[in-house]
Amino acid sequence: MGAGGFAKWTRRFEEERELRRGRGDPDWGRGAVLHPAVWASVQRFQVGEDGDGANLVGKADQAGDADYAQVVRLFVAEEQNHARLLALLLGAGGVPTLAGHWSDTVFVRLRRLMGLRLELLVLMIAEVVALRYYRALRDGVADPLTSEVAARILSDEERHVPFHCERLHVSLAELPRPVRRPVMALWRLLLFAVTLVVVVDHGPALRRLGLGRLRFLADVLVSADAVVSAVLAPRPDAWSGGR
Ligand SMILES: [Fe+2]
Ligand SMILES: [Fe+2]
Repeated sequence: MGAGGFAKWTRRFEEERELRRGRGDPDWGRGAVLHPAVWASVQRFQVGEDGDGANLVGKADQAGDADYAQVVRLFVAEEQNHARLLALLLGAGGVPTLAGHWSDTVFVRLRRLMGLRLELLVLMIAEVVALRYYRALRDGVADPLTSEVAARILSDEERHVPFHCERLHVSLAELPRPVRRPVMALWRLLLFAVTLVVVVDHGPALRRLGLGRLRFLADVLVSADAVVSAVLAPRPDAWSGGR
Protein backbone atom coordinates (compact mmCIF):
# COMPACT_ATOMS: atom_id res chain seq x y z
CA MET A 1 0.00 0.00 0.00
CA GLY A 2 1.39 3.39 -0.97
CA ALA A 3 0.54 6.85 0.26
CA GLY A 4 -3.06 7.95 -0.02
CA GLY A 5 -4.90 5.58 2.31
CA PHE A 6 -5.55 8.20 4.94
CA ALA A 7 -9.07 9.34 4.08
CA LYS A 8 -10.47 6.67 6.40
CA TRP A 9 -8.44 8.15 9.25
CA THR A 10 -9.91 11.58 8.55
CA ARG A 11 -13.35 10.04 8.96
CA ARG A 12 -12.40 8.34 12.24
CA PHE A 13 -10.86 11.49 13.69
CA GLU A 14 -13.86 13.58 12.58
CA GLU A 15 -16.31 11.12 14.10
CA GLU A 16 -14.43 11.36 17.35
CA ARG A 17 -14.46 15.16 17.17
CA GLU A 18 -18.25 15.13 16.84
CA LEU A 19 -18.60 12.73 19.79
CA ARG A 20 -16.35 14.99 21.83
CA ARG A 21 -18.44 18.04 21.00
CA GLY A 22 -21.67 16.25 21.86
CA ARG A 23 -20.34 14.95 25.15
CA GLY A 24 -18.81 18.19 26.40
CA ASP A 25 -16.24 18.41 29.15
CA PRO A 26 -16.11 16.43 32.38
CA ASP A 27 -17.62 18.17 35.38
CA TRP A 28 -14.59 20.07 36.65
CA GLY A 29 -16.62 21.34 39.60
CA ARG A 30 -16.35 17.89 41.19
CA GLY A 31 -12.74 18.69 42.03
CA ALA A 32 -9.91 16.17 42.14
CA VAL A 33 -7.88 14.68 44.97
CA LEU A 34 -4.63 12.83 44.25
CA HIS A 35 -1.42 11.97 46.06
CA PRO A 36 1.22 14.72 45.58
CA ALA A 37 3.50 12.30 43.69
CA VAL A 38 0.70 11.64 41.18
CA TRP A 39 -0.02 15.36 40.79
CA ALA A 40 3.66 15.99 40.09
CA SER A 41 3.57 13.29 37.44
CA VAL A 42 0.39 14.68 35.82
CA GLN A 43 2.04 18.12 35.74
CA ARG A 44 4.94 16.69 33.72
CA PHE A 45 2.68 14.87 31.28
CA GLN A 46 0.59 18.01 30.81
CA VAL A 47 3.65 19.89 29.57
CA GLY A 48 4.55 17.00 27.27
CA GLU A 49 1.09 16.94 25.67
CA ASP A 50 1.38 20.61 24.81
CA GLY A 51 3.78 19.82 21.96
CA ASP A 52 4.89 21.54 18.80
CA GLY A 53 1.96 20.84 16.47
CA ALA A 54 2.74 23.50 13.85
CA ASN A 55 6.07 21.82 13.19
CA LEU A 56 4.45 18.46 12.44
CA VAL A 57 1.73 20.05 10.30
CA GLY A 58 4.41 21.78 8.19
CA LYS A 59 6.21 18.51 7.54
CA ALA A 60 2.97 16.70 6.76
CA ASP A 61 2.16 19.41 4.18
CA GLN A 62 5.57 18.93 2.57
CA ALA A 63 5.02 15.16 2.36
CA GLY A 64 2.59 15.77 -0.49
CA ASP A 65 -0.34 13.65 0.69
CA ALA A 66 -3.31 15.96 1.19
CA ASP A 67 -5.36 13.34 3.03
CA TYR A 68 -2.55 12.68 5.46
CA ALA A 69 -1.93 16.40 6.01
CA GLN A 70 -5.60 16.79 6.89
CA VAL A 71 -5.59 13.99 9.50
CA VAL A 72 -2.42 15.39 11.05
CA ARG A 73 -4.32 18.63 11.78
CA LEU A 74 -7.03 16.63 13.53
CA PHE A 75 -4.36 14.68 15.40
CA VAL A 76 -2.62 17.87 16.58
CA ALA A 77 -5.98 19.25 17.75
CA GLU A 78 -6.49 16.11 19.86
CA GLU A 79 -3.07 16.44 21.46
CA GLN A 80 -3.80 20.08 22.25
CA ASN A 81 -7.07 18.94 23.78
CA HIS A 82 -5.13 16.50 25.99
CA ALA A 83 -2.99 19.37 27.27
CA ARG A 84 -6.16 21.39 27.89
CA LEU A 85 -7.92 18.54 29.74
CA LEU A 86 -4.89 17.91 31.95
CA ALA A 87 -4.53 21.64 32.69
CA LEU A 88 -8.19 21.76 33.77
CA LEU A 89 -7.73 18.60 35.84
CA LEU A 90 -4.78 20.21 37.61
CA GLY A 91 -6.96 23.28 38.14
CA ALA A 92 -9.73 21.11 39.62
CA GLY A 93 -7.19 19.90 42.16
CA GLY A 94 -5.84 23.37 42.85
CA VAL A 95 -2.47 22.40 41.34
CA PRO A 96 -0.67 24.81 38.96
CA THR A 97 0.57 23.85 35.50
CA LEU A 98 4.32 23.85 34.90
CA ALA A 99 5.84 26.54 32.72
CA GLY A 100 7.75 23.93 30.74
CA HIS A 101 10.71 21.71 31.44
CA TRP A 102 14.11 22.12 29.80
CA SER A 103 13.86 18.58 28.41
CA ASP A 104 10.70 19.49 26.47
CA THR A 105 12.41 22.54 24.97
CA VAL A 106 15.36 20.42 23.86
CA PHE A 107 12.93 17.86 22.46
CA VAL A 108 11.07 20.50 20.42
CA ARG A 109 14.33 21.96 19.05
CA LEU A 110 15.59 18.53 18.05
CA ARG A 111 12.32 17.72 16.33
CA ARG A 112 12.56 20.85 14.18
CA LEU A 113 15.77 19.50 12.66
CA MET A 114 14.16 16.23 11.62
CA GLY A 115 12.28 15.09 8.57
CA LEU A 116 8.79 13.63 8.84
CA ARG A 117 10.01 10.04 9.21
CA LEU A 118 12.35 10.77 12.09
CA GLU A 119 9.85 13.11 13.66
CA LEU A 120 7.21 10.38 13.67
CA LEU A 121 9.66 7.86 15.13
CA VAL A 122 10.39 10.25 18.00
CA LEU A 123 6.73 11.13 18.44
CA MET A 124 5.86 7.43 18.49
CA ILE A 125 8.10 6.94 21.51
CA ALA A 126 6.03 9.48 23.44
CA GLU A 127 2.79 7.90 22.21
CA VAL A 128 3.73 4.37 23.28
CA VAL A 129 4.79 5.59 26.74
CA ALA A 130 1.57 7.63 26.98
CA LEU A 131 -0.50 4.56 26.13
CA ARG A 132 0.71 2.72 29.23
CA TYR A 133 0.75 5.81 31.42
CA TYR A 134 -2.87 6.84 30.87
CA ARG A 135 -4.03 3.26 31.36
CA ALA A 136 -2.20 3.21 34.70
CA LEU A 137 -3.72 6.56 35.63
CA ARG A 138 -7.23 5.51 34.62
CA ASP A 139 -7.06 2.25 36.57
CA GLY A 140 -4.86 3.30 39.46
CA VAL A 141 -6.63 6.29 41.01
CA ALA A 142 -9.65 6.41 43.30
CA ASP A 143 -10.49 9.90 42.02
CA PRO A 144 -13.38 9.72 39.49
CA LEU A 145 -12.58 12.96 37.62
CA THR A 146 -8.94 11.94 37.06
CA SER A 147 -10.00 8.48 35.96
CA GLU A 148 -12.45 9.96 33.44
CA VAL A 149 -9.88 12.37 32.00
CA ALA A 150 -7.32 9.55 31.72
CA ALA A 151 -9.88 7.29 30.00
CA ARG A 152 -10.70 9.98 27.44
CA ILE A 153 -7.03 10.61 26.64
CA LEU A 154 -6.27 6.89 26.53
CA SER A 155 -8.99 6.23 23.99
CA ASP A 156 -7.45 8.89 21.71
CA GLU A 157 -3.95 7.47 22.17
CA GLU A 158 -5.23 4.03 21.20
CA ARG A 159 -6.16 5.53 17.83
CA HIS A 160 -2.99 7.61 17.48
CA VAL A 161 -0.60 4.66 17.66
CA PRO A 162 -2.05 2.66 14.74
CA PHE A 163 -2.43 5.91 12.77
CA HIS A 164 1.29 6.66 13.16
CA CYS A 165 2.11 3.01 12.40
CA GLU A 166 0.36 3.36 9.06
CA ARG A 167 2.25 6.49 8.08
CA LEU A 168 5.57 5.09 9.34
CA HIS A 169 4.94 2.03 7.22
CA VAL A 170 4.78 4.31 4.18
CA SER A 171 7.85 6.29 5.31
CA LEU A 172 9.91 3.18 6.04
CA ALA A 173 8.97 1.68 2.67
CA GLU A 174 10.87 4.60 1.08
CA LEU A 175 14.07 3.27 2.65
CA PRO A 176 16.05 0.34 1.18
CA ARG A 177 14.67 -2.92 2.51
CA PRO A 178 17.83 -4.02 4.43
CA VAL A 179 17.84 -0.91 6.65
CA ARG A 180 14.17 -0.98 7.67
CA ARG A 181 14.51 -3.59 10.40
CA PRO A 182 17.70 -2.02 11.89
CA VAL A 183 15.96 1.38 11.98
CA MET A 184 13.11 -0.12 13.99
CA ALA A 185 15.56 -1.99 16.24
CA LEU A 186 17.23 1.33 16.98
CA TRP A 187 13.84 2.90 17.63
CA ARG A 188 13.03 0.15 20.11
CA LEU A 189 16.36 0.72 21.88
CA LEU A 190 15.68 4.45 22.11
CA LEU A 191 12.20 3.77 23.44
CA PHE A 192 13.73 1.49 26.07
CA ALA A 193 16.13 4.27 27.16
CA VAL A 194 13.36 6.89 27.30
CA THR A 195 11.11 4.56 29.28
CA LEU A 196 13.93 3.95 31.77
CA VAL A 197 14.11 7.70 32.36
CA VAL A 198 10.32 7.88 32.70
CA VAL A 199 10.12 5.05 35.26
CA VAL A 200 12.85 6.68 37.34
CA ASP A 201 11.27 10.12 37.05
CA HIS A 202 7.70 8.93 37.66
CA GLY A 203 8.53 5.96 39.88
CA PRO A 204 6.84 7.27 43.03
CA ALA A 205 3.67 8.10 41.06
CA LEU A 206 3.62 4.70 39.35
CA ARG A 207 3.96 3.02 42.74
CA ARG A 208 0.93 5.02 43.96
CA LEU A 209 -0.94 3.84 40.88
CA GLY A 210 -0.15 0.26 41.87
CA LEU A 211 2.29 -0.34 39.05
CA GLY A 212 5.89 -1.42 39.55
CA ARG A 213 8.61 0.16 37.43
CA LEU A 214 9.53 -3.16 35.82
CA ARG A 215 5.90 -3.91 34.99
CA PHE A 216 5.60 -0.52 33.26
CA LEU A 217 8.81 -1.10 31.33
CA ALA A 218 7.80 -4.62 30.31
CA ASP A 219 4.34 -3.50 29.15
CA VAL A 220 5.80 -0.66 27.08
CA LEU A 221 8.14 -3.12 25.37
CA VAL A 222 5.21 -5.39 24.49
CA SER A 223 3.50 -2.43 22.78
CA ALA A 224 6.80 -1.58 21.11
CA ASP A 225 6.99 -5.02 19.55
CA ALA A 226 3.44 -4.61 18.25
CA VAL A 227 4.43 -1.27 16.71
CA VAL A 228 7.57 -2.71 15.09
CA SER A 229 5.57 -5.59 13.60
CA ALA A 230 2.88 -3.28 12.26
CA VAL A 231 5.37 -0.84 10.73
CA LEU A 232 7.36 -3.61 9.04
CA ALA A 233 4.36 -5.76 8.12
CA PRO A 234 3.10 -5.92 4.55
CA ARG A 235 -0.23 -4.64 5.86
CA PRO A 236 0.23 -1.53 8.00
CA ASP A 237 -3.13 -1.86 9.74
CA ALA A 238 -1.85 -5.04 11.39
CA TRP A 239 -1.27 -3.31 14.74
CA SER A 240 -2.76 -5.59 17.36
CA GLY A 241 -2.60 -3.28 20.33
CA GLY A 242 0.09 -5.30 22.04
CA ARG A 243 -2.32 -7.18 24.23
FE1 LIG B 1 -1.77 12.83 23.92
FE1 LIG C 1 -1.23 10.87 21.13
